[in-house]
Amino acid sequence: MSFFQGTLNQFVLSKEQIQKIVDGMTEEFVEGLSTTDPKNITQQPSFITRLPTGQETGLYLAIDMGGTNLRTAAVHLLGDGKVGVTMEKHEITQELKTGTGEAMFDWIADCTASLLKKVVIDMGNADLHMGVTFSFALHQTAVNRGKVLAMGKGFDLSDVMGKDLKDLLETGFSRKNLPVTVSAIINDTVGTLVSHAYISPSTKIGVILATGTNAAYIERASEVSKYNGPACEQMILNTEWDAMGKASYLPQTKYDKEIDAVSLVPGFQEFEKMVSGLYMGEIFRLVLVDLIEQKAIFESSLNGQVPEALRPAKAFKTLFMSTIESDSSADHKAVDKVFKTSFGVDSLTSEDRTKVFNLVHAIGQRSAAMTAAACATLLYKANGGSVHLDAVKEITTIGIDGSVFEKYPQFSQKMMKELTKILGEDRASRVRLELARDGGSVGAALVAMISRNGGAM
Ligand code: GLC
Repeated sequence: MSFFQGTLNQFVLSKEQIQKIVDGMTEEFVEGLSTTDPKNITQQPSFITRLPTGQETGLYLAIDMGGTNLRTAAVHLLGDGKVGVTMEKHEITQELKTGTGEAMFDWIADCTASLLKKVVIDMGNADLHMGVTFSFALHQTAVNRGKVLAMGKGFDLSDVMGKDLKDLLETGFSRKNLPVTVSAIINDTVGTLVSHAYISPSTKIGVILATGTNAAYIERASEVSKYNGPACEQMILNTEWDAMGKASYLPQTKYDKEIDAVSLVPGFQEFEKMVSGLYMGEIFRLVLVDLIEQKAIFESSLNGQVPEALRPAKAFKTLFMSTIESDSSADHKAVDKVFKTSFGVDSLTSEDRTKVFNLVHAIGQRSAAMTAAACATLLYKANGGSVHLDAVKEITTIGIDGSVFEKYPQFSQKMMKELTKILGEDRASRVRLELARDGGSVGAALVAMISRNGGAM
């Protein structure tokens, strides 16, 4: 077999490899329910104990802090599953990501002030309650409190780890004289689940597939033995599936291992590093560099010499993969365009273009297959019972937000195909994968509203 084919095949998962992922994650989901090992950040109770009814109303502030952007929003819940949202988006610079906590929370307060100038004052709302979506792991201690755990996604903030996020935010607001109270703090997956359930009541799982990946679902409280808050019947859990993935079941290639080894936190978020938008482009780049050096691709144009523009880490964006895969014509002209414009590589042969397309496709397909495997594992749980109990007896919606799910060509169809392989046609026919939008702001506003009016949802 050629070097190219051998490399490509490492990204094509067999039925057995996928089953291994389902089995391995099942064990991790169960272990996470009871573990008290501080290093295990999975299955975090959100302190939210029910899904919304769709009838909630009110006006709330929300901020959504992700790996790439900070969104600030005024959310008007109108009832009947309807909302009005005014939003501002600010890019989080590299300098902020690796600076002090104080600089970060001052900046968040400034961004909030900018939104307030625009909307809330006009609406005459003096009572500023805020819901916060935080796309990083938190050890939640109440619906509006949580200690920051390891951050990932290229963040390295000093003086933040282990601190309470409500205190960090409110201290920043008061430094800027903003009368804002943090009424709820949620993970972005919890926001996606809650906000999608508001408009689509069969929603049982919320997933993010963006810079990072993760999911939340609703679990019977009796199963969550590590939870020791007020008594309840159900609990939304932030699974932090990003951080799952033991070497014994993850089909890591040498390229995946390299990505992990040079990352800010090696050994952390192994699953995410194989699946999400922050890493897919980089996986492709590492494979391509290897193939070029082995003269297994671009031989006639580069003859084993890797162009300088392809050398820096993250030089190949996941967005380029989307561009390449969206052109499925026989001559794959989009490949030429990407390589000429962004990397100065010219005169690719038709065979080169096909190889690039196939490799991009295999990496994207692997991401879809692994996400489907993780969803299938949760479906076994989310639809009525213990792991490996027969599931999906009724229509079950998974609300999914994030650039990879939304923009990567046919990601939804790819996931559905894989889910059908895992669950079988009958069960898979009752699963709906729906694009969820604005979960960060609407979900946070919903939870802020309910928790303000008398405790957990
Ligand atoms: C990362 C974070 C997680 C978040 C996910 C999606 O994996 O640890 O909390 O939900 O990214 O944004």
